[in-house]
Amino acid sequence: MGITRDDRTTHRNRTTFALGGDLPVHRLGFGALRLTGPDYWGPPHDRDKALEIARLAVDLGVSFIDTADSYGLGSSEEVLAEALRPYPDDLVIATKAGQCRPRPDQWVPLGRPEYLRQQAELSLRRLGLDRIDLFQLHRIDPKVPAAEQFGALAELQSEGKIRHIGLSKVTVEELEEAREQITVASVQNLYNLTDRHTDDVLDHCTEHGIAFVAWLPIARGELSAEGSPVAAIATELGATPSQVALAWLLHRSPVVIPIPGTSSATHLKENMAASEIVFSEDQLARLDALGRPLG
Ligand SMILES: NC(=O)c1ccc[n+]([C@@H]2O[C@H](COP(=O)([O-])OP(=O)(O)OC[C@H]3O[C@@H](n4cnc5c(N)ncnc54)[C@H](OP(=O)(O)O)[C@@H]3O)[C@@H](O)[C@H]2O)c1
Repeated sequence: MGITRDDRTTHRNRTTFALGGDLPVHRLGFGALRLTGPDYWGPPHDRDKALEIARLAVDLGVSFIDTADSYGLGSSEEVLAEALRPYPDDLVIATKAGQCRPRPDQWVPLGRPEYLRQQAELSLRRLGLDRIDLFQLHRIDPKVPAAEQFGALAELQSEGKIRHIGLSKVTVEELEEAREQITVASVQNLYNLTDRHTDDVLDHCTEHGIAFVAWLPIARGELSAEGSPVAAIATELGATPSQVALAWLLHRSPVVIPIPGTSSATHLKENMAASEIVFSEDQLARLDALGRPLG
């Protein structure tokens, strides 16, 4: 059962979540996909600016950063390491493996166990870590038995190379199948105010205390653009549409960790202030209605 609106109002000031039960993170995270070059294919053109954004995120209170081996073919992880080492004690860097990039416009699931192991080793090196706090399977590869992919993650965990395991882009059925074999600390799915097609997964995560990392939390900028469906409520609150979109996610469930991505210091500051927003019951009802199919 999902939590009710009353629960959400009660939970509104709870801005941290204990990932995997033992890693408290500020629930407004940061997505590091955009700390890369064009098409997320290589290093950022303006490396100093990317380093500055990563440092600013942490200065503003971000303690959960999402990246992947495939973001810039490793460049995102390299930028994070250069910007943030020695890492603050409370910083969790979550990375992923399981998608390869044969060309800039291609993201192809690749879940062979030996590849997942290799990518974990490369991420450890690039990030300069002895252990990855959260290692997410970017996609379940349909060409490889799921049990082999989960088995590779379990092996890395038992060897101490990764602390917690997460999944990405999964259904409730896939999550439950995985949970028969491994302990899943997080699920990362596309979710925002206007695209709630994985509502059932979020409710399931809420029920089981699994972190739900919401990717595309501001719909690739659509929710901040002119004519945003949340513009009127933003005006009422003296906030920006992006802040409303992010604050709604924080209110939606105490397990949600939105990971907005930005390459702009101004937007980053704006986004981090979203955790201060408190909605009235009427505003929450209007925002909730935006995601429901009409009729
Ligand atoms: N698991 C997966 O398969 C998967 C897939 C996609 C993404 N992700 C993760 O999700 C994270 C977020 O995804 P995303 O960056 O594509 O989407 P997003 O966070 O929904 O939107 C980012 C876009 O919104 C703009 N933006 C951000 N803050 C803004 C603000 N305050 N005002 C106006 N515009 C703003 C950004 O432009 P500016 O740079 O100009 O701010 C950028 O164009 C990624 O970094 C990645 O970690 C995961």
